Amino acid sequence: MRVFSAVQPTGRLHIGNYTGGISQFLRLQGPAECLFCIADLHALTGDVDPSRLAADTRQVAALYLAAGLDPGRVTLFVQSHVPAHAQLAWLLACTARVGELRRMTQFKARRGDEEGASVGLFEYPVLMAADILLYDATHVPVGADQRQHLELARSLARRFNHRFGDTFRLPDPLLPEAGARIMALDAPGEKMSKSSPRPDSRIHLLDGPDEVRRKIRAAVTDSARGLTYDPVARPGVANLLNLYAALSGETVDAVASRFGGGGHEAFKSALAELINEHLTPIRERYRRWAEDPAAVEAVLRDGAARAATLAAPVLERATRAVGLLPTGA
Ligand code: AMP
Ligand code: TRP
Repeated sequence: MRVFSAVQPTGRLHIGNYTGGISQFLRLQGPAECLFCIADLHALTGDVDPSRLAADTRQVAALYLAAGLDPGRVTLFVQSHVPAHAQLAWLLACTARVGELRRMTQFKARRGDEEGASVGLFEYPVLMAADILLYDATHVPVGADQRQHLELARSLARRFNHRFGDTFRLPDPLLPEAGARIMALDAPGEKMSKSSPRPDSRIHLLDGPDEVRRKIRAAVTDSARGLTYDPVARPGVANLLNLYAALSGETVDAVASRFGGGGHEAFKSALAELINEHLTPIRERYRRWAEDPAAVEAVLRDGAARAATLAAPVLERATRAVGLLPTGA
């Protein structure tokens, strides 16, 4: 089993990134061979601030380390440090069709403004496919929002293999049972997202305990009594139950019946405390990594060297398959 996943260094990581991404990584490191990447090239597809990108990249690495990723057991690296990602993305771009990329929801979200979107944004899922296929990954732990991108990676791999001979391994997505799609606290109809302009829509991994309590207290629920898991009729309550279940490892129904008699307030305070139990150690360890940027960079340098070694033969396989003249080196 070889696991690959990535996160963009844009904005600050939130509790949805934790339940959909990081907490799965923590479970997998050890049992599986793991590669985790900070997708800085993907960040360029949006409105990036060049004066902050490097610092944001280092911050995400520090947060991953603080969350418990062990550089002795996982390969943690920055996408742009391994040029093979961009190289393979070109070969896959020549395999992808304009029509299928236009159907990607993330691109469709820009409808109305397509002419002004960057070609990079259009090609985003192709670069993501390259990230994954470059390492012969068998499993890709992600939140539910990335499922369509994973499907595309599989289609591109299949098409490439069919046209040029067996080259890529088809990866499977790994979605957590609970917490694959955490919604905005103040608007449970939309996904919790790094890019929302409303800071109270999400809990950052570095929010202090009081801030966590305040945001959870303010989270939108409803006026019905008791707790029942019904994402359609009671999206706010369902979101909080889902978050609790993701962090405690219980099922949503078990959580609902345990807190069902006590009212929303009691459940919300228990949830805030559970979040703090997870975040407090991360915040403390984060401080130590953040004070030592050279140590973070050393981890990333090591990681890039290891990743490059794994990527080289796969890129070589792909360039030979399409018939490019080898360098002879
Ligand atoms: P991103 O924030 O888009 O870079 O996503 C990083 C990882 O977090 C990916 O695996 C996403 O699927 C996951 N993720 C992002 N937002 C959420 C959310 N609201 N709920 C669950 N997982 C999420
Ligand atoms: N697109 C992913 C996101 O926004 C980040 C990402 C880039 C990724 N490359 C990847 C996730 C490869 C998994 C595998 O969450």
